[in-house]
Formats: sequence, structure tokens, C-alpha cells
Amino acid sequence: MNNPQLDTDGHLRHLLSIEGLPKKILNQILDTAESFAGVAEREVKKVPLLRGKTVCNLFFENSTRTRTTFEIAAKRLSADVISLNVGTSSQSKGETILDTVDNLIAMHADMFVVRHAQSGAAHLIAKHVPPHIHVINAGDGRHSHPTQGLLDVFTIRKYKPDLHNLRIAIVGDVLHSRVARSEIHALTTLGVPEVRVIAPKTLLPAQVEKLGVHVFHDMKSGLKDVDVVMMLRLQNERMNGAMLPSSQEYFKTYGLTQEKLALAKPDAIVMHPGPMNRGVEIDSSVADGKQSVILPQVTYGIAIRMAVMAILAGGQSANPMPAGGGTQ
Ligand code: CP
Repeated sequence: MNNPQLDTDGHLRHLLSIEGLPKKILNQILDTAESFAGVAEREVKKVPLLRGKTVCNLFFENSTRTRTTFEIAAKRLSADVISLNVGTSSQSKGETILDTVDNLIAMHADMFVVRHAQSGAAHLIAKHVPPHIHVINAGDGRHSHPTQGLLDVFTIRKYKPDLHNLRIAIVGDVLHSRVARSEIHALTTLGVPEVRVIAPKTLLPAQVEKLGVHVFHDMKSGLKDVDVVMMLRLQNERMNGAMLPSSQEYFKTYGLTQEKLALAKPDAIVMHPGPMNRGVEIDSSVADGKQSVILPQVTYGIAIRMAVMAILAGGQSANPMPAGGGTQ
């Protein structure tokens, strides 16, 4: 089937979802990000790969981590960055999303980073733009958040390099989570042998096992001997009506405490894409504890987003910067 993310030579043209992306492309992004992670250690944290290009951040839904790290990543690649303030843009006067995009293209935008509450918004823009423009999905509805999935895998590789020997549990509101979908597709494509989901039935999509995951409804059996615990936020804004008795009740059963974490392997890492709801899905002692890699996830997001933008802009290989060269 024709993949709108790839050009006719199989190179990445847009990044819209992990689903359908070949393992080779996922590894290209992860390996390129390894090279970019070192840029943060330099005195001048910049490389000239996107010099002369304009990146437009279009965030129609709130964000702290994704928006900021995309902006930092684009600046580290020396791009000009426009972050449209949607609240004060002409959207409020009835302008359509595609008219907004056309106007930004008329201002010579080269790349759009799009977050939207509606699933499919980034696909819509990708179908609309001319061939030289690239679109990155920064989270659409409950559908996909590909750079989050990639930065999560990148983080796991840093702490647990042998992906082929891992047991990973994703815990919580899988039903409404674009992050969980992206993580599951990334982990299964890259050969992680056991991906588990742990949640009440009401928070799991129908036939979730068809995604290649093992389903658990209780933490005791689900967390047993896992290497990685990925917690998810309860996405209350996407729930129609009450799907749970109460957040206190949820915490008692599915909230990650030190006691429940002890069921995992002793060296298990704890992840969360953010934003966290302390005392709902995770206890503060775990979120801030020694097994938590929640803040490193955020840091690695910069390298992943640099890699994606560099690859889109220039067909970047996994070694974008020879040692000692390429800075400005
Ligand atoms: N993980 C994530 O997407 O966070 P933000 O909503 O803050 O971007």
C-alpha cells in the first residue's frame, strides 16, 4: 500500500505515525539522534543543517514538552522558527487550518510541526502541501505521537541496550493514548519480544492484543519481572462520561507505588511521557525516585526531534556530524 510518509525511493517525506514505518527508518532516526545527543554537550549548541529553512510550530492543543523541545531542536539545527500562537491567530476569525497553512507557505515555510486534538489533522496538512514541504505530527487526538514513541525507545535503548531481550509494561489509559499506540508500534517493529498493557477493561481499545501486546488487568501479574514500566496519564479530556469509579480508586489499583514497582525487576526503569498526575497514576516517591528516567526522556526528545527534522530536510544519514566538524 502507498505510504504517504515515504517518497517513491522509500525515504522519509513526512513523519505522521510510527505505524507502517519500516524498521530501517526507525533505526535511521534513532541512530541519527545518537549523533545529535552530543550537540548538547558543546559550548555552542548548534549545527548548521537547517540554516535558511523555516520551521513552523502549529500547536492547536496545549503542550509543554513537545512544543518546547521541537523549538529547541529546530534552533539547534539553525532553522528560523515560528511558533504560531493559535489563540491569537486568525483561526479565531474562522480561517481554516489549510488556509492558515497556505498563508505560512506563502511566507516560505519549509516544515510544519502540528499538534491537534483531532486525529488525522497532520495527515490532512501533509496531503495538502506541495512536495518540498515536510509535516511532522506532534500528536493528533488519540491516534499518534510518533516523536514521543521514538524518544521513549531512544531512552529505553540508553538504559537497556538489548531491545531483543526486554519485557516492557505500558500501564493505564491505553484507550485514549496516542503515546501508547506509537510506543507499541515502535517497540514491536524493533523486535521487543514482550510488550504488555495493564489496564482496566474500560481503558483498553477493543482487540488491543491484535497490536501484538499481552493484556493484563492487574498490576501484580502484569508488572512481574518487567524491565521497563511506562505509566500513562488518565486522559480525562478525551473521556465521554465516567469510565472509572474515582481517581483515588484508580490510584489504589493501578497507581505506581514503591510497593507495586517492587514486583518488576530490581533494575527496572520507570517512564512517563508527561504531563504526570501525581497521586493518580504515579506516586511522587516513584516519579522522583532513583528508577525514574522521566526527565531524561524529555532531554532525549531534543535529539530525536533534531534527527527527524534533519532527515526530512536533507535525507540525513545516521552520521550527520563528523567529529570536530559541522558547527557554526
Ligand atoms: N508528552 C507530551 O506530549 O507532553 P506535552 O503535551 O507537554 O507536549
